[in-house]
Amino acid sequence: MSAIASASWDEWVAKSAALLRGNRIEVDGWRYTAPATSPTAHAAYVHQFLWDSCFHALTWRWFDPAMARDELRALVAAQVQDGPDTGMIPHMTSRRGGSEQLWGCPDHSLITQPPLIAVTAMLLHADVPDVPLLAELYPALCAFHAWFERRRDPDGDGLVCLIHPWESGWDASPRWDRAMGLPGDMTYEQGRLARVALAAHVVESGCDAGALLRAGSYCVEAVDYNAIRAADLEALGEMAAALDRPQEATAWAGRAAQVREMFQRKMVRDGAPYDLDGVDEQPVVQESAAQAVALFGGCLTEAQAAHLVAQLRQPRHWSRFPVPTSPTDSPAFVPDRYWRGNVWLSVNWLIYMGLRRYGYAALASELAERSLALVAQGGFWEYYHPLTGQGLGSPSYSWSAIVLDMLGRERGLVPPRQA
Ligand code: GLC
Repeated sequence: MSAIASASWDEWVAKSAALLRGNRIEVDGWRYTAPATSPTAHAAYVHQFLWDSCFHALTWRWFDPAMARDELRALVAAQVQDGPDTGMIPHMTSRRGGSEQLWGCPDHSLITQPPLIAVTAMLLHADVPDVPLLAELYPALCAFHAWFERRRDPDGDGLVCLIHPWESGWDASPRWDRAMGLPGDMTYEQGRLARVALAAHVVESGCDAGALLRAGSYCVEAVDYNAIRAADLEALGEMAAALDRPQEATAWAGRAAQVREMFQRKMVRDGAPYDLDGVDEQPVVQESAAQAVALFGGCLTEAQAAHLVAQLRQPRHWSRFPVPTSPTDSPAFVPDRYWRGNVWLSVNWLIYMGLRRYGYAALASELAERSLALVAQGGFWEYYHPLTGQGLGSPSYSWSAIVLDMLGRERGLVPPRQA
């Protein structure tokens, strides 16, 4: 029997709730969920991470909607309030310290992560209308998106760039090898040291994307990052409408449309989307699951989506447990190495939602089915082997509970109004 059909909803809620409650942290009156707190996990995983918190909130809403809201409040409270990066929401917030060494700042990093907060807030609002929450978050999210335009679009084309792979959330992906000046056969440690050195360089340069771009530092306009931003701008427009600000709603929707237009004009080659590297915007010829995330932001035409979905169905992408971040026949594919061909449920959720957006409900259901089977087999791991399903990285990892959201949607359930 299928994993979705045989799953006990109550058991999955109980397992997911136990995981997130076990990783919940309260500090200075803020409540958030750490990615992982197990003794074997990376020390940084006790901090709050931007896109992780969005996935956590989307899971919490199925059993504790108040906590889902607090998770977003804590995230937005970390917004930078002065200096050139006013408006940025950090990729990592360390309220008890822990960012000094890398960032020279005690309580947060100086870079960001995929902007998914408005999308998340609007999904919470769809369950339980909560205009006061939207009113609370809206000014901060407007400032965040204004920051993107001011500080991450040095060539002014409407597509934003990453100045460090950590901003993408795909830390060690082969997508970045060329831009990082790394050979494909480097060791894990070589890659890690290069990322640490780049963080120091980014700090020294004042996190100035224009200067970094001109100096030939890592600077990539990424497909998934810009698609997520298009979705978030669209959600911000919906938020403005819910707050009865029709002109702003139109303006944000227009910004989302501009991102999509530039995406089409610059990122799509032969019908498929590619990351763009550096000043000359060279396409990064590296297939990855990030291309399918374009669906999430509505960045492809129907014909391009059909082409992408036909590719996605091939066993090189649709492995026993899809979707490996690199196709299984790529020279870059290393199934058990961090971001070089594993399955991440955060990425699967984005693809799942994108497939539904474009009407590929049956394929989305199959992705939910195999994602649930993966977690049912081995538990909540940081990431997984796409061929065997083996759990990899840290155990008891919060964001893998996002399968609960896929299960709830597949069952057509509605999240509770109260815990
Ligand atoms: C790793 C992942 C990143 C994530 C963080 C916390 O660094 O690459 O995407 O946000 O862990 O889970």
